[in-house]
Amino acid sequence: MTLPNTPLPEPASGETSAYSRTRIFLHWLSAAVILWATFSGFGVALLDQSNPIRQWVESFNPQLTSLFIPFFVWRLWLAVKAPSPSTAKNVQARLASAAHNSIYGAVAGVLITGVLMMSHPVMLLALVPLPQFIHSKIALLELHQVHRALCAALAGLMALHLAAVVLHQVRGKSVLGRMRGTM
Ligand code: HEM
Ligand code: HEM
Repeated sequence: MTLPNTPLPEPASGETSAYSRTRIFLHWLSAAVILWATFSGFGVALLDQSNPIRQWVESFNPQLTSLFIPFFVWRLWLAVKAPSPSTAKNVQARLASAAHNSIYGAVAGVLITGVLMMSHPVMLLALVPLPQFIHSKIALLELHQVHRALCAALAGLMALHLAAVVLHQVRGKSVLGRMRGTM
């Protein structure tokens, strides 16, 4: 790849990126939580129900992802409030914006179904109780199916997202810099 490097704009004091520091922090926090919950969730589903690793993940993940909900709502609020840099008119920017909105939609769906499908109350950090909302066994089973389908859709969207980031890097247009606060 021998594309010339276009000089980066001088960082202004305070706001150094197309995304605010808070949005960058929340993006990487979400990435860590979602990647972990996806890989570990699908990973332990392959193990026996009585496997201690599966039991640990199934007790830890609902707590972790429930605690993540306020951070996700915060992130969503910031995204709605401050239009992202990809609101330009060209097709590629519209596609990127649609992909980002689909990710937000899938994460919201996964979080909502996750909370509703709990078949027992959960104690968050042994402090905050999260009650069981639904008691019908059939409804719980259906919610599990929807949760699983949404997790698979989210995994597909994440793969697409990562492929797009890599493609941009390879073509010499570093979008990663925007999410690291260096552009
Ligand atoms: C970041 C959001 C989340 C992601 C990416 C995620 C991901 C996953 C994945 C991949 C599975 C395995 C699906 C399967 O093959 O059965 C799963 C199962 C499950 N998730 Fe989530 N989840 C999220 C949020 C939540 C929340 C908020 C809760 C509840 C508070 C929750 C509760 C559960 C439960 C109870 C299971 C079923 C475990 C079992 O099979 O017994 N999840 N999740
Ligand atoms: C290690 C994995 C990841 C990398 C390297 C990465 C990288 C990036 C980059 C470079 C951007 C800026 C794109 C631009 O400005 O055009 C971005 C934006 C975005 N990413 Fe990721 N990402 C990762 C994981 C995730 C995950 C797991 C999610 C799921 C929640 C996610 C959701 C988003 C969203 C919604 C945006 C739009 C900006 C925003 O609203 O914060 N990313 N990502």
